[in-house]
Parts: sequence; C-alpha cells; structure tokens
Amino acid sequence: MRIPDIVIAVDGYSSTGKSTFAKLMAREFNLVYLDSGAVYRAVTLFAREENLIRRDNSISGLLKDELRGLEVSFGPGGTYIGERLVERQIRSMEVSSQVSPVSALPYVREYVDDRLHRMAESGRVVMDGRDIGTTVFPNAGLKIFMTASIDVRVRRRYEELLGKGESPDMEEVRKNLLERDFIDSHRETSPLARAADAFLLDNSNMTMTEEIAWARGLLQGKFGIME
Ligand code: DC
Repeated sequence: MRIPDIVIAVDGYSSTGKSTFAKLMAREFNLVYLDSGAVYRAVTLFAREENLIRRDNSISGLLKDELRGLEVSFGPGGTYIGERLVERQIRSMEVSSQVSPVSALPYVREYVDDRLHRMAESGRVVMDGRDIGTTVFPNAGLKIFMTASIDVRVRRRYEELLGKGESPDMEEVRKNLLERDFIDSHRETSPLARAADAFLLDNSNMTMTEEIAWARGLLQGKFGIME
C-alpha cells in the first residue's frame, strides 16, 4: 500500500513494543525508521563514559557544553557515537536505569530534538519515542500512542534482556519500568503524554500481524486509500 510522504509518530510507555511496531510499519509502508530513545540512550552512555553522572544519578552541568562535540547517528547495526557502533552498550541495564534523569534535562531534549528534525528531513519517517506527537512533530501525519499492561511489559523487557545474554532479575526489571514511567510522565519538559489527536493502541493481547492490520486500517481511513 502506497501512503503519502508523512511523519508517523509512535509514542508510549517503555517496553510496549513501540520499536518493533515502528520497524514493521517502516517495512510495510516504505518509511525510514528513527528511534528517538536510542539518541537519548547514546547521550546517557556518553555522559557515563565522560564521568558526568554522579552516584546519586544527578548529572554534572558540564554535559551541556560537552554535547556540542557529540555526534549521534544511525547506520549499519544501529546507533553510532562518531564512528563507534554503540547499539549493544546503549541497551544495557546501566544505561536503562540512568536514561530517564538524563532525558529530563531541557538542554538534552533540545539537543536530541534538533538531531531528530535533521534526521527526518526526508519526510517519509516513522519515529518512536515519548513526545514525538506532542513536541517533536506536533503536525505529524499520523499519531499513535501505545500502551500495554505492566505484566506484559515486564515480561517483554525481561525476555529482551535474556535474549541479549544479560541475566535480568524480574523484580528489578519491573522496578526500572515503573520508575521510568514515573519520571518520563512527570518531568517538566515535554513529559510522556498522549496527544489529543493520537490513536490509542493497547497491544497487551495483540499479535504483530494484528497491530499492522490495525495501522493499515487507520491509514486507509485517513488517506482514503481503497485497497
Ligand atoms: O524508548 P526507549 O526505552 O529506548 O527510551 C529510553 C528513554 O529515553 C526513556 O526512558 C525516556 C527517554 N525518551 C524520551 O524522553 N523522549 C523520547 N522521545 C524518547 C525516549
């Protein structure tokens, strides 16, 4: 199905399957997939490596200046800092537990938003995150807000970490998810929220095929595509 050149914003809670869904959408509708969370994760990894995150998870103000020299991009295998592929490192439990305080900083959000706008210049993009439909692309052609029950999300995240060779603790995973939900939806600068015009997708009991069929229906309705 051929759809117009639009940005599709996919927002929602952690581990609701946003990236899996957005990647499938990209393949199905011939769009470029952009993972905004990966950019926040790369900034967090960078801050860790530069020793700018203190023991209590507070962040040194030096990060603001250091960001000027940080180049984050997507390439073969995933996310890069400069020439270095950091896809595996940015998904670690350490980065996951520090990414919310880092991404709550207004200057970090400004840095990431600027990168995302540049990456999305082609127009045919599906981007997943927390504030894409509300702040980054308030005029996105289609907005989807994803949610799923906490038990389903914990199980998904747990299995994802297992698959990566980590040894997660189920309760730790649950705690991390709930903590991130809280920080992400209570921060002052562009908190996680459903845009008024976003379609809600609760995929607790849906297969990926069903999710894509649902999205296809939305796009057909929205753009009057008869297929
Ligand atoms: O989607 P993810 O779990 O990889 O995102 C990692 C973190 O980045 C998430 O806990 C909050 C932050 N984030 C954000 O604040 N805004 C976005 N648009 C995307 C991610």
